Amino acid sequence: MEVIKVRGGNYLEGKVKIGGAKNSAVALIPAAILANGKVTIDGIPQISDIKALKVILEEIGCGVKVNNDEIVIDSTDLENVPLVSDNVKKLRASYYFMGAMLSRYKKVTMGFPGGCYLGPRPIDLHIKGFEALGAEVNVENGVYEITAEELTGAEIFLDFASVGATINIMLAAVTAKGKTLIENAAKEPEIIDVATLLNNMGARIRGAGTSVIRIEGVDELKECYHQVIPDRIEAGTYIIAAALAGKKVAVENVIPHHLEALISKLKDAGVVLDVLDDSVIVYGGNKLKGVDIKTQVFPGFPTDLQQPITTLLTQSEGTSIVEESIYSDRLRHCGHLSNMGADIRTFDNTSIITGPKSLNGQIVEATDLRSGASLILAGLIADGVTEVRNIGHVLRGYEKVIQKFTDLGADIWIDTQE
Ligand code: EPU
Repeated sequence: MEVIKVRGGNYLEGKVKIGGAKNSAVALIPAAILANGKVTIDGIPQISDIKALKVILEEIGCGVKVNNDEIVIDSTDLENVPLVSDNVKKLRASYYFMGAMLSRYKKVTMGFPGGCYLGPRPIDLHIKGFEALGAEVNVENGVYEITAEELTGAEIFLDFASVGATINIMLAAVTAKGKTLIENAAKEPEIIDVATLLNNMGARIRGAGTSVIRIEGVDELKECYHQVIPDRIEAGTYIIAAALAGKKVAVENVIPHHLEALISKLKDAGVVLDVLDDSVIVYGGNKLKGVDIKTQVFPGFPTDLQQPITTLLTQSEGTSIVEESIYSDRLRHCGHLSNMGADIRTFDNTSIITGPKSLNGQIVEATDLRSGASLILAGLIADGVTEVRNIGHVLRGYEKVIQKFTDLGADIWIDTQE
């Protein structure tokens, strides 16, 4: 079993370069199969979710070449085989093959996707979108069979601005006959990134990044080159780490506009930052005060930074109230932070944190990707050594995490245990 160990107490100093956005890349890769040829995507993060997607691509007949952070996907010999292997269950984003395969073949067979447990994560809105475009959906023993004689543009209103449903419906609709309108669409930057790739491939998508997306179907899509946007959640995690344990840290390759909700909360909490064109300089060592947070869809405070910022709030003076409004079960890091000495109480989807409280190194468990990040951050400031177990979650989403924290001066390593 591999664990991450962190010996607390070292200051973070220097610079860290943020990689490409995981939640874009995992959608861009399935989107690439819509081109009848080669798509080159640059800035792919080096994480295990991408490795799983590469295997899925190979299982369906694509040629795939990965060279550091570049991936070239050649879908010339793509076959419409059922997507039911264990790799599909390894990550949530495998469901983007539903929209992409449906778009290309009008038929797809796929097992239920996996990913972090954060409470029930239904895909009813994706299915509603496919059905509105003319598909018939049958589910048997957890396997979806989606078929359409023809996909036809439709007006689709999403009850919730779901990131996954918005992208999946865009993928299916780009080749549908006529016009599709997605209302109450998600506005996350990753939606714009996927629409940009598809438009470079010849799709006609307007309004991505707003709540109304208009798509005019085209007959076919072509080869192109694309550069992934920087990962706003990875950037936010290092910014919070620097606020917690840093002297002066430059977080580079960021789009500050994507991080406005975080930056504004950090300023309210007393963190000193310089926001430059494509980097954020964080000055640690300031007295912090508690702030209240409610997670929301973009441009609100991202749920994916709720867990990391909770660690910061354990070190802030006074009481902070954090409400998780996107997922029903994303507070499981709180118990582990409590075991390390934090004063946290949870009620339903809300945590109440009173600080500052000294933390002690303990054995803790990454219950999901971002909970793992929050526990590593806690380890940076805890007395003694923190051992984070179940690190597969962390490696799924943070590239070179040990190297990046080590380069900043942290005492952190991977230990292999019997
Ligand atoms: N939902 C439904 N029905 C649906 C779709 C979603 O009820 O058909 C609910 C979900 O259960 C959840 C909420 O709507 O409670 C939000 O779901 P959404 O579809 O927006 O999220 P997602 O596409 O499953 C992506 C990211 C998540 C991130 C969310 C919200 C990927 C692969 N995952 O998930 O990232 O939290 O958007 O921004 O893009 C992470 O990176 O740690 C992570 C979990």
